[in-house]
Amino acid sequence: MGSKSPLLPFYPVYTRDQLNQKRRKPRLISKIVLLILAGVVLPILAVSCTRQQQAGPPPDRSTIKIGYFGDLSGPTFNFGQSARNGALLAAEEINQAGGINGRQIDIVIEDDEGSPERAATVVNKLTRQDKVIALIAGGASGSSLAAGPNAQSAKVPMISPSSTNPAVTQIGDYIFRACFIDPFQGEVMAKFAYDSVLQAKTAAIMLDFNSPYSRDLTDFFELSFTKHGGRVVKKESYTQGDSDFKGQLSSISAAGPDVIYLPGYYGDIAVIAKQARLMGITQPLLGGDGWDAPELWQLAGDSINGSYISNHYSADDPSPAIQTFVHNYKQHYGNLAPDAHAALAYDAMRFLIEAIQRAGTTEGKKLRDELAQTRNFSGITGIISMDPQRNAVKPAVILKLQDGMYIYQETIQPDAVAAPAKPSPSPTPSKSRKKGTKPVSKRG
Ligand code: PHE
Repeated sequence: MGSKSPLLPFYPVYTRDQLNQKRRKPRLISKIVLLILAGVVLPILAVSCTRQQQAGPPPDRSTIKIGYFGDLSGPTFNFGQSARNGALLAAEEINQAGGINGRQIDIVIEDDEGSPERAATVVNKLTRQDKVIALIAGGASGSSLAAGPNAQSAKVPMISPSSTNPAVTQIGDYIFRACFIDPFQGEVMAKFAYDSVLQAKTAAIMLDFNSPYSRDLTDFFELSFTKHGGRVVKKESYTQGDSDFKGQLSSISAAGPDVIYLPGYYGDIAVIAKQARLMGITQPLLGGDGWDAPELWQLAGDSINGSYISNHYSADDPSPAIQTFVHNYKQHYGNLAPDAHAALAYDAMRFLIEAIQRAGTTEGKKLRDELAQTRNFSGITGIISMDPQRNAVKPAVILKLQDGMYIYQETIQPDAVAAPAKPSPSPTPSKSRKKGTKPVSKRG
């Protein structure tokens, strides 16, 4: 034992015990190495991994694409252009302030030309091709009713700034609006006609038969006016773009109503009003938000003097927030005062932005859930809260039209008409004036 083999002079020869010892040594060493690894290296690795986790992936700086569509051309192009301007202004303000969590907004714009069919087509292009994460659209109720199902099936939240027909948000849980709905708008004007300076006991209505907005507003006005004790003595209809209304107007004139309700859009209203005055019809004309467009005065001139409309806001409201908005809008758009469409789209864009910030994501379902949570959002057009049907609960204003001006009359809170049996508890909000103070505005 212990002798070395002459053939293998360079290889040591070990006894079994020596070999066993030899074998044990590496185990001991590896254990020590392992212990060192566990005690020193692994904690270092773990810390560096945690650091990597804390730093997270690089922040998403891609633009957030939001779709807009409306009637930028066609018979009521003022509506679409104003809403687009309002949405762009809100996006520009947030972009200048650093964007949404560092991401800039990019508004992809489409013209539906005032056609419901085209609105349905462009919403598909915006959602499927441009992959917008939300839509600020559409304008007229007819367009929103046609386009809404496509936004719903694409699961892209759509906020209509101004479609007041109740059926619009009934399309599905991805459809919201920034405005009040027509049962309220109809009630507001019926109550004003019956109770206010007008003291109207009878009314005639002339409606745009193909417009869901006009048809339903007719029904809601009639329902409320009758409930207050008034009577609708004549109803006549027309179709958008008609040029001769004399037949309907003479039958209305023969019925001798105290007021004439025209729940239509400004282009037709201008022609109807002019023909009515030429025919010697002197009764006050009443309307809704469909009259509110800078172009109305250019088309209708003096014929609409003494008319009253229900609307979403008054540009004369002295509240600092409204006056800042009016000032900024005028600076951007050639001194044009913002109409209701512009103010509503501005509000819609801003509460969408807030919902994206709250959600921390642009994923459709989560964004939808956050939009539904909108409460007490302080908008230009009032304090906005979403009800369970995704309709904005908010006040309306009555404006008198006189010599190119929209003269503020009063603000009507939703609870003032929703619960007529109760004494009206709502104090006049700071941003609305009491009846009788009448600042004026000139638009155009
Ligand atoms: N409310 C009208 C509709 O639903 C459209 C409209 C809104 C027109 C605001 C003017 C201003 O069709």
